[in-house]
Amino acid sequence: MNRAILSKQINGELIDHLKNDPKSLSSFLQYQNDGTIIYVLEKLGRLENGYSREPLLNLLNHLNENIRALSIKNLAKIEDISLLSTFVKYASADESTAVRRESVSAIGRLRNEKAIPILINLLKDDDPKVVMQAIRGLLVFSYRSEVKNELRKLLNHPNELIKEVINKEVNGIQHKLNSQQKQDEFPTFLKNTVVHGDVQEIIKYIPDESIQLTFTSPPYYNARDYSIYQSYEEYLNFLEQVFKEVYRITKEGRFFVLNTSPIIIPRISRAHSSKRYPIPYDIHPLLVKMGWEFIDDIVWVKSEASVKNRNAGFLQHRKPLAYKPNAVTEMLMVYRKKTDKLIDWNIKQYSWDKVKKSKVLEDYETSNVWRIDPTFDKVHTAVFPLELCNRVIKFYSFVGDLMFDPFAGSGTLGRAALNLNRNFFLTEKESKYINRIKEELNKCGNLFNQVSQLNFIDFEKFITLSREKI
Ligand SMILES: C[S@@+](CC[C@H](N)C(=O)[O-])C[C@H]1O[C@@H](n2cnc3c(N)ncnc32)[C@H](O)[C@@H]1O
Repeated sequence: MNRAILSKQINGELIDHLKNDPKSLSSFLQYQNDGTIIYVLEKLGRLENGYSREPLLNLLNHLNENIRALSIKNLAKIEDISLLSTFVKYASADESTAVRRESVSAIGRLRNEKAIPILINLLKDDDPKVVMQAIRGLLVFSYRSEVKNELRKLLNHPNELIKEVINKEVNGIQHKLNSQQKQDEFPTFLKNTVVHGDVQEIIKYIPDESIQLTFTSPPYYNARDYSIYQSYEEYLNFLEQVFKEVYRITKEGRFFVLNTSPIIIPRISRAHSSKRYPIPYDIHPLLVKMGWEFIDDIVWVKSEASVKNRNAGFLQHRKPLAYKPNAVTEMLMVYRKKTDKLIDWNIKQYSWDKVKKSKVLEDYETSNVWRIDPTFDKVHTAVFPLELCNRVIKFYSFVGDLMFDPFAGSGTLGRAALNLNRNFFLTEKESKYINRIKEELNKCGNLFNQVSQLNFIDFEKFITLSREKI
């Protein structure tokens, strides 16, 4: 039975009646199917200490693991220390991990010193989620030295989430801040500036933690005319070096959105095959290793008519193995600079007024599939659609922030930044694209009366400015 029908049949009134009369609850549950029992158990809400345990204890032998887990969850609400042995029994012996985890959580919820040795013992469990629940229960007693010592032993636990929690809670380790600047500030010499030159050189002169958001689409290995690398390895090394620096100059807990897609290098003749390079999948492990925390993958979908047709052969012969789908997607990989602070902390660094002005109040895409047609430019062969930049900027920055694109191309990110009351810092090595950026940004600057505030400079001038730090 689906939940909509269930919610009509088992309304709030019936739930209240069953809850207040444990005998009725027991007999009701006896004759119901699994879906109904689960529904009722999910809706029981608060249970006071002293509540009758029988109807829930009866369900602990049920064959359905979800029913056993939910019964434990409800029993935990009663906060009755006499249930400790029941919880221990199910924490150690139930065949379902869900029931075991719920039981460990229930032991923790008792917040009773008697549970300490049991929780310490559970720290050795093979299931990291059981260990995590045991840690949660023990953190209440972390002022006690024996508990602290036991938790400290987990600093070398193989599971990364456990290590992180222990680091934060027991050791109080925080990632070092290298900058004095606040989250909503940035060095003025970067403001609305385009530097003509190689980003590998330029980026070294940017102070630590200067940038609030980076959105970029790097060269597509050797698939386009502006990128020549001796090997794929050299290409990945190059990106790795640049993105390490992007990490250094990004503020704590702020975002990096990387647009890439697998590319194809065509075959040299019919006797050879073409080669496909899975760029996003190869860059991802490098990014994580340097400290970027993976947050989301957004798929940018283009219309099929706008991409290269790879189907002509298969359409004719229909032979398996030779299928070649048209590549209508690119990835937007979303990362956050490592921090032990929550997103809320980042938001709280901004004034109420700035947060209010930055709210995304219009309709927005709720899924991670963004359907946006590509843009074709008269000078550049691979430009961002403005809409793509608009969305990234609105979702991942506040008004007044500094947006960085190390591979600026025609400077679309800069234009979007100005339109949305943000600032930009761009680097681009090809002079023909620098001219295009000037043309486009000046148009935009005129619109906002900001032309005088746009800076187009070369590498030498940038070094001078960075030394003056104006
Ligand atoms: C995919 S395009 C970016 C297009 C851009 N998103 C736009 O909207 O126009 C990559 C750009 O990176 C530039 N580039 C490649 N290597 C670079 C380097 N070492 N330093 C700065 N720019 C570089 C290329 O000239 C190219 O314009």
